[in-house]
Amino acid sequence: MSLPIVDFRSDTVTQPTPAMRAAMADASVGDDGYGEDPTVTALEERFANLVGKEAAIFVPSGTMANQIALRCLTSPGDLVLAGARQHIVRYELGASAANGSVQFHVLDDARGRLEPEEIATVRAGAIHHLPEATALFMENTHMASGGRASTPDELAGVMSAAAGLRIHLDGARLFNAHVATGRTPAELAGMAETVMACLSKGLCCPVGSLLAGPADVMGRGRLHRKRLGGAMRQAGILAAAGLVALDEMVDRLADDHRRAALLREAASDRWPNQAEEIALQHTNMVVLVEPDHEALIDHLASFGVLGDTLAPGVVRLVTHHDVDDAAAERAAAALRCAP
Ligand SMILES: Cc1ncc(COP(=O)(O)O)c(C=O)c1O
Repeated sequence: MSLPIVDFRSDTVTQPTPAMRAAMADASVGDDGYGEDPTVTALEERFANLVGKEAAIFVPSGTMANQIALRCLTSPGDLVLAGARQHIVRYELGASAANGSVQFHVLDDARGRLEPEEIATVRAGAIHHLPEATALFMENTHMASGGRASTPDELAGVMSAAAGLRIHLDGARLFNAHVATGRTPAELAGMAETVMACLSKGLCCPVGSLLAGPADVMGRGRLHRKRLGGAMRQAGILAAAGLVALDEMVDRLADDHRRAALLREAASDRWPNQAEEIALQHTNMVVLVEPDHEALIDHLASFGVLGDTLAPGVVRLVTHHDVDDAAAERAAAALRCAP
């Protein structure tokens, strides 16, 4: 008998829950182009309150939220600081050059955090004819390092080194950071002028992300959303799922983190030379280096476990709502006996 396939490639594979489907069917909607969709408005207000900002906008994707933030916080030609492995640098397929015409200075984020000293050094270059940075883009949790959540001390250090820069927080998995650290979403977002969070990852919505910030910045954000083709009409159908996500799906992320810990334990046993890096990962992922990634992905598949790669030789497994204890134990067993 073949084993059921369990999909650990990403938390974006999650299916909307029955409660979401019911809320979507019943949603009150209107034309959001006229500001007349009550469900979208309710979701935007709810998120803005949660992250302690004046206003928010509902957008189709996390990538679009980051790109809108980039357009709101920078001008063409600006130097933007960001971690070398952040989504906006690596995984948006050149969008920041195409949409924002900015230049990135990439910072070392090998351990899933930005170093205040490096930020200070880059900024000091401005008096030596180097371009002056105007903005800092951060990511929490930091996906490429295995979903690492920044500690309050790290955030404080970065904030002080980045004083005077405009700051955006890519919080695609902000709620994972909240559950892992016990800090409120508003505390985590407090250092940033704008913050985005995805509803379509561990929170299980079919579509959607939110971008929040000062009211005037979000006013510009609406304009850029339209220019990028992301303004929607009766989007309350989607926002209804988002309200369910914020009500019902945040606390349960702790289950995903607990299951990912089983995977990390197994990965540390199998790749002991990476145990130190893996110990820094504490949300819903394990990311490990395996030069023969194809052999590892094939081995996992023979256990009915679908994994994915983030780069050549870098394998990622992600836990989420549609992965139960038995599936996590199976994936852990497969990792332990990997070739
Ligand atoms: C850290 C991070 N930021 C942004 C995004 C982009 O989100 P979306 O896929 O909705 O465009 C992702 C998606 O995986 C992500 O992991």
